[in-house]
Amino acid sequence: MKKLVAGNWKMNGSLAANEVLLAGLRTVPEVDVAVCVPYPYLAQLQRRPSGFELGAQDVSEFAEGAYTGEVSAAMLLDFGCRYVIVGHSERRARFGDDDLTVARKALSALSAGLVPIVCVGETLDERDAGEVFGVITRQLAAVGEVLGTAWLGRLVLAYEPVWAIGTGRSATAAQAGEVHAAIRSWLVEQGVDAGTVRILYGGSVKPDNAAELFSMPNVDGGLIGGASLVADDFMAICRAAGV
Ligand code: PGA
Repeated sequence: MKKLVAGNWKMNGSLAANEVLLAGLRTVPEVDVAVCVPYPYLAQLQRRPSGFELGAQDVSEFAEGAYTGEVSAAMLLDFGCRYVIVGHSERRARFGDDDLTVARKALSALSAGLVPIVCVGETLDERDAGEVFGVITRQLAAVGEVLGTAWLGRLVLAYEPVWAIGTGRSATAAQAGEVHAAIRSWLVEQGVDAGTVRILYGGSVKPDNAAELFSMPNVDGGLIGGASLVADDFMAICRAAGV
């Protein structure tokens, strides 16, 4: 399986800053690379270096209609998106995306032909309480129930421990590997051809820890926040995924 490195720009960027960032991006043929940008910049990103797929950071669970402020999967497709992040912990914690909503968003993405990058992960309190696998299994179970086996085989999963996001404190390769192995086992239990589902690691991936994280079995790439805003760092991470 080719690794996937997806940049999550979050609510950062401007027309001018994006041009500077884009000018620093170079194709890395050994790796699938995507940039998940704020909605208004999807149009700007129609022009981007070859080899970079486009993604968004959220999608409505609804197809169309009177949902002020929402953006549908079909609209994302209209702008050439291939991926959309759903269930990022910032949305779960700040914007009320519960397990079921996340699962419905993943379904709406898949139904329209997008690949959802479904994020799961525990808080530090949950890790300290020994609840890592319980939390992740609960988050995955909602997705499994709503999607069913066939769709489950077509998404991308991202393990993002909440305590590692934006903190500079990445999970160790061993911690990531342990959870990724558990997620892979869960997929197998659901009857999914688990070899086809990429499981990304996200949370303070930087040029200096990327190679070690990506060397772990079952770590099939990364979801990159802060470092995806610095072209040289993002490129170094992409290259680390390609070796
Ligand atoms: P970070 O963010 O790389 O800045 O920790 C990762 C993410 O939130 O996807």
